[in-house]
Amino acid sequence: MENKKRMFDDLALEEAEKFLLEYQRQKPWYSGAMKTVCAKFEVLDDEFSLLRGHDPIHHIESRLKSAESAYEKLARRGFAQVADNLTQLKDIAGVRVICSYVEDVYDIAEVFLRQEGVALLQKKDYIENPKPNGYRSLHLIAEIPVSLSKETRRVPVEIQLRTISMNMWASLEHEVSYKVNADLLDSYRAELKTCADEMYAVEKKMQGICNRIRNGK
Ligand code: GTP
Ligand code: MG
Repeated sequence: MENKKRMFDDLALEEAEKFLLEYQRQKPWYSGAMKTVCAKFEVLDDEFSLLRGHDPIHHIESRLKSAESAYEKLARRGFAQVADNLTQLKDIAGVRVICSYVEDVYDIAEVFLRQEGVALLQKKDYIENPKPNGYRSLHLIAEIPVSLSKETRRVPVEIQLRTISMNMWASLEHEVSYKVNADLLDSYRAELKTCADEMYAVEKKMQGICNRIRNGK
């Protein structure tokens, strides 16, 4: 019995090592895709700034999912934790684009998706349809071409576009969700949702003021 358990542990360890090796092999593709997407949005921000007179993007954040969290996410999603399944995850490369206003989110997403080589794999519009807890953002999974020394491949990137206030709410909500247990969090849910809705309403008002100023009224 003990020997059998050791054999399974050894096999699991071997698979985990293979997974880690595959992750390292794939990393330059994901890192290349992440950097390319960031550069694309920065270039668009420059163009909007020069031609339209305002910067739609407040700032950009990016991250590569670590091998450990990729491994853990496979199990959470019901996939076997094996090297071949790394491609099941579409959010290894992640880019968050924080815009000034909601209109900027849609404008910049639209021009990005129209660019040559960019293909949309999935869109979830949590601005149009916020999550029940009040979470708002526009989520895209886009595939973009990445060239390394020997080959060009299409690589998926998860892009979250949101406004400054949506970002503020999501950061604070994320923090409290981790800090308090589920029961306590339940008692705060309604209040957090109200905050999200109020922040959205304020942002809409600010957008109105900004539009009137831009139009010289
Ligand atoms: P995961 O990728 O496993 O998270 O599930 P999914 O693909 O169904 O998720 P979805 O596209 O809805 O969200 C992916 C990411 O959006 C998360 O990893 C978070 O970064 C962010 N997100 C989604 N919902 C929430 C939320 O309620 N609160 C906060 N703070 N962030 C969220
Ligand atoms: Mg996801």
